[in-house]
Amino acid sequence: MTPRLKGSTLILCVSALCVLAVIVIAYGRPVVTTQSAAQKWNPRRVPEGTEFIGDQACKECHKKAFAQFARTGMALAMEPVAGSKVLAENPKLTLQIGPYSYEIKRQGKQSFYSVTDGKDTISVPIEYALGQGRMGQTYVLQHNGNFYESRVSFYDHIKALDFTIGSPRTVPATLDQAFGRQLGARELVSCFGCHSNGATTGQKLQLDKLAHGVRCESCHGPGGPHVAAVKAGEPGYKSVFNPGRLGGDEQTQQFCASCHRGNEEFSMLQSVGMNNVRFQPYRIFHSKCYSDDRNIRCTACHNPHEPLREDAAYYDSRCFQCHSLKDQPAAQGSAPSCPVATKECVSCHMPKIELKTAHFKFTDHYIRVVKPDEKYPN
Ligand code: HEC
Ligand code: HEC
Ligand code: HEC
Ligand code: HEC
Ligand code: HEC
Ligand code: HEC
Ligand code: HEC
Repeated sequence: MTPRLKGSTLILCVSALCVLAVIVIAYGRPVVTTQSAAQKWNPRRVPEGTEFIGDQACKECHKKAFAQFARTGMALAMEPVAGSKVLAENPKLTLQIGPYSYEIKRQGKQSFYSVTDGKDTISVPIEYALGQGRMGQTYVLQHNGNFYESRVSFYDHIKALDFTIGSPRTVPATLDQAFGRQLGARELVSCFGCHSNGATTGQKLQLDKLAHGVRCESCHGPGGPHVAAVKAGEPGYKSVFNPGRLGGDEQTQQFCASCHRGNEEFSMLQSVGMNNVRFQPYRIFHSKCYSDDRNIRCTACHNPHEPLREDAAYYDSRCFQCHSLKDQPAAQGSAPSCPVATKECVSCHMPKIELKTAHFKFTDHYIRVVKPDEKYPN
């Protein structure tokens, strides 16, 4: 086991939907010295001037990854409004909060978000729909030349609107507040930086370059040099970043955590209480199972090119890498066997925890023996 990572300096700012948007400024995470220059990539710190070539360019040679990835939650992390499944399947959504009436209405390939107090109305076309909608969807809107996060969001479980996570659950004071929460420049960069590709370089917005959702190059870095190198006869691995080559901590607490949020933000994530169940790198870090071992890094259980597996049995073989099963030794480790069951391990040891404000049950990545009536371990 290598030493666990210590927190680094972060400047934090509070966001609404993801509860906390984190902007990492100026201070670097430890540089991955074992990788060559082409293989260093931080999805959230895209250097100024970076050019992306888009997923279509990868299709030619990586057909399988391309086809599979299109169906993942990450690929759908921002839906283009014209093709939005969520907005098309829910053509009219309404909600009343005090004197304010909300409506999200589909008209052809457009959707309009409006709020009225009976006298005045603000109505705008939706431009950015964030979230695949498995939990829900929140809208980033423009009004009077500013960007706003919609005050209300769609939630799949109730197939209806409710307050956006993180926004105060009280009757807004003005129509403007009822409309949404104005987003500062940094928050916008974060929001688009996690849910889309190409829209931010050098911490600046360039919305004309936005590709919806997490894309191949979000994780693999700009593909231009790779395609050119491969076509010139060089081996592919030299010219592209592959997060599969990262060590356990590097991948889990730095790479995937750059969007999913990890232990570097320890004190901040602790302070948000049960909401931190959404931040898997942070949760798994607390588990006795966790170490720098590759068998417990994010990709041990998730293939980022494939849709999320929801069958508990799928994950059993991951546990057996380290845990023995009755008299059978584990594949590699020597962790103890379970006195209670022999399969579907995650169903008891990675409990689903309901966040009422999200109308969704998240999977607690703090793998543990769950005590009856336990208080949420923070
Ligand atoms: C002209 C063909 C071609 C195109 C286009 C192409 N690649 Fe590759 N890529 C290769 C070859 C060949 C390899 C090496 C063999 C392999 O791993 O499949 C490779 C390897 C890779 C690897 C693994 C590197 C490693 O560490 O082993 C990644 C990641 C990758 N490509 C990503 C991409 C992405 C992202 C795109 C689109 C921006 C892309 N490739 C476009 C041919 C291509
Ligand atoms: C550029 C930001 C970014 C990076 C880097 C990233 N993710 Fe994600 N990931 C997201 C976002 C945003 C979502 C939420 C998508 C949604 O539900 O709309 C997500 C969702 C997921 C999901 C759930 C998918 C579903 O269908 O519900 C898994 C699993 C996942 N990511 C695994 C990983 C792993 C493993 C890594 C590291 C190899 C990683 N992610 C790196 C942004 C990222
Ligand atoms: C630091 C990266 C990051 C930032 C910043 C961020 N998100 Fe997310 N978002 C994620 C990840 C990772 C997930 C998946 C895990 C989860 O549901 O919390 C997600 C999930 C979501 C979901 C749920 C999607 C679903 O159906 O599962 C919505 C909606 C969403 N984000 C909207 C937003 C909005 C709006 C903003 C900006 C105001 C924002 N996010 C900022 C990373 C981020
Ligand atoms: C969320 C991050 C993420 C995204 C988005 C992503 N990949 Fe990957 N990719 C990975 C990781 C992690 C690995 C290493 C997988 C492993 O080692 O198990 C990988 C590996 C690869 C490889 C090496 C061969 C393999 O499958 O292990 C290729 C080629 C590749 N990716 C292409 C693509 C293409 C093309 C896209 C877009 C269609 C894409 N990736 C999108 C994270 C991502
Ligand atoms: C030991 C296996 C394991 C590891 C390691 C693991 N996960 Fe998961 N993950 C799961 C299981 C099981 C689910 C729930 C699947 C289901 O039933 O929907 C899940 C679900 C998710 C989801 C969907 C949202 C939710 O709460 O259900 C996201 C996002 C996610 N994982 C991200 C990650 C990231 C990022 C990492 C690395 C920090 C990671 N996971 C490491 C097993 C794992
Ligand atoms: C990388 C190796 C590794 C993997 C993979 C792994 N574990 Fe563990 N796990 C350990 C170690 C090491 C311990 C600590 C054993 C001890 O204290 O003797 C542990 C402890 C546990 C405990 C007891 C925790 C406690 O708080 O007392 C449970 C329950 C558990 N693991 C379940 C699982 C399940 C379920 C999976 C698969 C989803 C899994 N583990 C995957 C290594 C691993
Ligand atoms: C039906 C729920 C359930 C399932 C399924 C389950 N466990 Fe457990 N597990 C428990 C309970 C309850 C305990 C605590 C038992 C005790 O302390 O007497 C436990 C204890 C453990 C421990 C701690 C053992 C020790 O000696 O400290 C490990 C490790 C573990 N389980 C791993 C697993 C693995 C791996 C699987 C899948 C093969 C699994 N569990 C499936 C309920 C379950």
